[in-house]
Amino acid sequence: MTATAAPRRVRIYEVGPRDGLQNESTPISTADKLRYIELLADAGLREIEATSFVSPKAIPQLADAEQLLAALPRRDGVRYPVLVPNERGLARAEAAGVDAIAVFTAATDAFTSHNIGMTIAESLAAFAPVLARAGELGWWRRAYVSTAFGCPYTGRVEPQVAVDVARRLLDLGVEEICFGDTIGVGVPDQVGEIVNLGQGAGIRVSRQAFHFHDTRGTALANVAAGLVAGVRTFDSATGGTGGCPYAPGAAGNLATEDLVYFLDASGWEHGASLDRVLEAARFIAGVLGKPLTTKVGQAGGWDPATGAATGR
Ligand code: COA
Ligand code: ZN
Repeated sequence: MTATAAPRRVRIYEVGPRDGLQNESTPISTADKLRYIELLADAGLREIEATSFVSPKAIPQLADAEQLLAALPRRDGVRYPVLVPNERGLARAEAAGVDAIAVFTAATDAFTSHNIGMTIAESLAAFAPVLARAGELGWWRRAYVSTAFGCPYTGRVEPQVAVDVARRLLDLGVEEICFGDTIGVGVPDQVGEIVNLGQGAGIRVSRQAFHFHDTRGTALANVAAGLVAGVRTFDSATGGTGGCPYAPGAAGNLATEDLVYFLDASGWEHGASLDRVLEAARFIAGVLGKPLTTKVGQAGGWDPATGAATGR
């Protein structure tokens, strides 16, 4: 046998500084956000969604996006995407020296109407010039399909509906589609269905990312299903923070520390250090004045050589 094993490598896309903080009512200083992002990069995370160039009225917590990016030291090999909803956001991102963006729509008109004041079709029309311009600038482009598993306003979402929106986004030139379980209602079978239908629609699995919330405890099971289906990019937020102000009941994102433990113990490479991720998680929990309630945040990691808990 000369076959070489395919690399067991996963990309972790950290959303703590953006998704994790956007809904926090405690005002967080720009300095603390910067320290947090630095700790995330120190932990070996290579994709860190830094902030949003959205309306400060919609998301007051991220109104300091310009100041944050002006002070953020960029590191080689680390991508710092920002959320952009429209051409105004694109212009702000360009002035801030960004080279990676994420646009965001959803699988239901009810959700996009609440979140960005547009129907899905209107959002696609708004993104077309944004993505075209970002492409000319050579930027990396991601698109979120939120509520891909279920919507807080209309209920269950058929996987084909989410995939149809994703396909239209791919046609607008994005490099990556991220299917979001915004309110944490998804289960593993749905993940497999989306992946397969997505591939059927011409969206290669290497272009598919998944964004799970652990609202009902299904996030890691969904990751496992994604891995089996060939997905290699997963979003998470250190400390399990986050939620969308327009998604009632959306509790925290899948915690990066829970994901890292799971991947390490399963033999997947990803480049992040669990101990350092836990440092970042403790830091941001301290800033928010909240206890760290994630599973691995509480239990620590585990050293199979000694049986001892680690990183506590
Ligand atoms: N950056 C800064 N300000 C912006 C902006 C941007 N990208 N886009 C619009 N604005 C400002 C406008 O100038 C206007 O300001 P004014 O009231 O002082 O005149 C105000 O926001 C409203 O703009 P309008 O074009 O009428 O849009 P809207 O009120 O329908 O809002 C969005 C549309 C998309 C800008 C807004 O809903 C938004 O930013 N949503 C983001 C939600 C989000 O981030 N959710 C979490 C991610 S899942
Ligand atoms: Zn999220």
